[in-house]
Order: sequence, then structure tokens, then C-alpha cells
Amino acid sequence: MRLKESFFHTRQVLAVNNIDNAPLEGELLLRQTLKINRVQFYQNPAQQITPEQQDILQKLLERRLNGEPSAYISGYREFYGLDFYVNNDVLIPRPETEHLVENTVSRAQKHRKLLIADIGTGCGIIAISLALNLPQAKIYAADISTPALKVARFNCYKHGVVDRIKLLNGDLLEPLPEAVDFIVTNLPYVRQSELDTHSFEPATALDGGADGLEIISRLCRQVNGKLIPGGCLLLEIGQGQREAVTALLDSLFPTADIEITPDLNGIDRVVSMTLPR
Ligand SMILES: C[S@@+](CC[C@H](N)C(=O)[O-])C[C@H]1O[C@@H](n2cnc3c(N)ncnc32)[C@H](O)[C@@H]1O
Repeated sequence: MRLKESFFHTRQVLAVNNIDNAPLEGELLLRQTLKINRVQFYQNPAQQITPEQQDILQKLLERRLNGEPSAYISGYREFYGLDFYVNNDVLIPRPETEHLVENTVSRAQKHRKLLIADIGTGCGIIAISLALNLPQAKIYAADISTPALKVARFNCYKHGVVDRIKLLNGDLLEPLPEAVDFIVTNLPYVRQSELDTHSFEPATALDGGADGLEIISRLCRQVNGKLIPGGCLLLEIGQGQREAVTALLDSLFPTADIEITPDLNGIDRVVSMTLPR
């Protein structure tokens, strides 16, 4: 079979099985099978697919039809213009988290020297994107999951920032050895009752407890002493969580300045709290 026919067939199988964006998904599976980039994929539609390659493709296709996300099958996901290695020990990066990074970069770039903590780093997307965009920053990246930290370490090497990011294992802000200028965090915020029990993603990356805000609330209560005066806490939140989170921060830090940034869909996504100096 030639690439062109195989692509057509793969797309059809994906579409019939209700996989969204079947053309892109089919392209990714074929490119992974043939180990080719996008340009090579579209330049050589007459390329022959060997029987061995067809077997590999069939196995990848079966995994996808079984519900496994394409990022876990391919082993990577793009975030903030960078490629990150992912496996099922970490959350697959979501595009909305780019707002958190963007917001931090725009606040932090005027600082000449700064310390940042990324709490719940997962595969390291936030810490690494910040390290590459803020060359003056030193970063702590913490997670309670040891397997997730292994993935983050791999990505730190991949992006050449291993000397600027210190990985820490532990609960929320507890492993932080000093107060920092910025705490940036995308913690689990899905209500337990809304968790997808068939998800391939780790529950520790998603489960925010009964109200979705158990872990975020615990972190907010630990901020004292971990953020310098004038420092800033940036939290990613889920739909409908703005009021509860801002009320909690208001009660804990009545003199702080709180701002909300919506994502591209108009959903309140980032809560930023700046402490007085
Ligand atoms: C929503 S994922 C975010 C991963 C990554 N930062 C991202 O934005 O894609 C939440 C991460 O928080 C970690 N986590 C959950 N509970 C934690 C805790 N109590 N202390 C530290 N990390 C925690 C999970 O292991 C997971 O990696």
C-alpha cells in the first residue's frame, strides 16, 4: 500500500470511530510509524508502506481506538512553541495553561534577578517555558509524584535548562527551601464527582477533591513565608472557581492585589495575587 491510500484508510477508520480531527490524528499515527516529519509526509504520497510498517500502524491505531490520547502514543505534546516528552505519569499539557505562562512572563520580565516556583510541575512545561523565556530566572519545580519528576527531568535535559531548574519532591510548598518572587501553579482542580474514570491521565494530576478546590486552597494557606513582600502568586483555575478562590485569597491576604485573566473562550483562567511590599 502507498502512503496516500494508507492515510485515507486510517482517516476513515478514525472518523467512523468518532475520533475528533481524524485527518490530523491519522497523519500523526502515520508519521510516527514512518518516523518522518510533516514536510516529508506531504512530499511523498507515493511512498510504499512495508508490511512491517503496516503492522506497527495497526497497533498504534488500535491504541488510539481504545481511547489512549495521541500524546501518550506519540510520546510528545507541543506547549508554548516547544516539544515536551509526555507519558501516562503526567497530565497532557493543555493550551489554556499558556495563559499562565504568558501572564508570568509579562510580569516577571522587568525583574533583573528572580526566583520562581512551579508547583505541580508534571512534565515541566511551566518551569521550562519560563526558564527559556526569562533567562535571568532560577526556578524550583516541585511535584508530589516521583514518576512525574522523572519526566520533568528528561524535559529539562531536552531543553538544556537542567542547571537552572531545581526539581523538588513533596507536598505543595513544603519542599521550597526559601521564599520566592513568583509562585506559579496549575494544580488539580476537577471535582471528584466529575473525574473521568476511564481517563488515561493520572488521577493525582486532576483530582481536586470534593469541591475541586481542596489542593488549591491548601496551597493558598501555605503561601505565608514562601512568597517575598511584593511577590506574586499565579494560579490556574477551572470554570466557575473564580469567586471561591478570590474570596479565600481576600480573607487570607486582605491587603493583596488580585487580578483575573480569562482564556480565549472567555473563561476566568488565571488568578494573580500580588502581595504588598
Ligand atoms: C494539573 S497537573 C499540571 C501539570 C503541569 N504543571 C501542567 O500544567 O501541565 C497537576 C500536577 O500537580 C501535581 N500534584 C498534585 N497534588 C500535589 C501536591 N499535593 N503537591 C505537589 N504536587 C501535586 C500532580 O502530580 C500533577 O503533576
